[in-house]
Amino acid sequence: MRRKLIAGNWKMNGLRAGGIALAGDLAGKCKAEAPNCDFLVCPPAHLLISVAEAIAGSGVALGGQDCHTAVSGAHTGDLSAEMLADAGCGFVILGHSERRADHGESSSLVRSKAAAAKRAGLTAIVCVGETADERKAGRALEVIESQVRESLPETAPEAAEASLVVAYEPVWAIGTGLTATPSDVAEVHGHIRKLLIELYGNDTGSAIRILYGGSVKPGNAAELMAVGDVDGALVGGASLKLEDFWAIGRSCP
Ligand code: PGA
Repeated sequence: MRRKLIAGNWKMNGLRAGGIALAGDLAGKCKAEAPNCDFLVCPPAHLLISVAEAIAGSGVALGGQDCHTAVSGAHTGDLSAEMLADAGCGFVILGHSERRADHGESSSLVRSKAAAAKRAGLTAIVCVGETADERKAGRALEVIESQVRESLPETAPEAAEASLVVAYEPVWAIGTGLTATPSDVAEVHGHIRKLLIELYGNDTGSAIRILYGGSVKPGNAAELMAVGDVDGALVGGASLKLEDFWAIGRSCP
């Protein structure tokens, strides 16, 4: 049984006071009311260490939003997976569509970053998803399949549930208020599950969590979290409001 993971991607939002308060309030709620799911927050890099302190002992996990492939070196502005681990992270989001689009990240680069995450002992959350044009052209599954085949680690993750997560985020649903229908989500997640089993074998492929992301909010979370092979959510905008993020977690069956 895969426990659901509700991951908050804060993106480039939050200054110290607000970010620490948001994380601390979530931690307080988790301590008071043991939730039915795992919560993860991925704040911008300048907040990692203070958020790590704010959530200590609460069960809320911490993640980065990207990492470099190298351990260290002359890479101005980048952070290594080892640095994220050193800051208290257990996870890192990789290949988000905003990184693929804004920074030209290819699937093969994402695969190298996933290897770096594994090297540092982090769980990679590898994002895939089609654009609106690709969906309109009937190419959604084909695009997602090639992203999965080219972005995920070549070798099977060791402790599957603990070391790899896939997030399906249709690009047209991110930050737009539009969401994929439960039947489209079921089709895509089922396809990703088949690919994971083909790539890593039945036990590992069945244990990896597949998140849905793209305008998840309290009003649509319950129907999305009830879809087969949806093992949680990657939440952007709604993760910045405690009540909304908590309500999404509470909607997990
Ligand atoms: P959104 O973002 O929830 O604001 O659509 C999701 C994401 O990009 O991870």
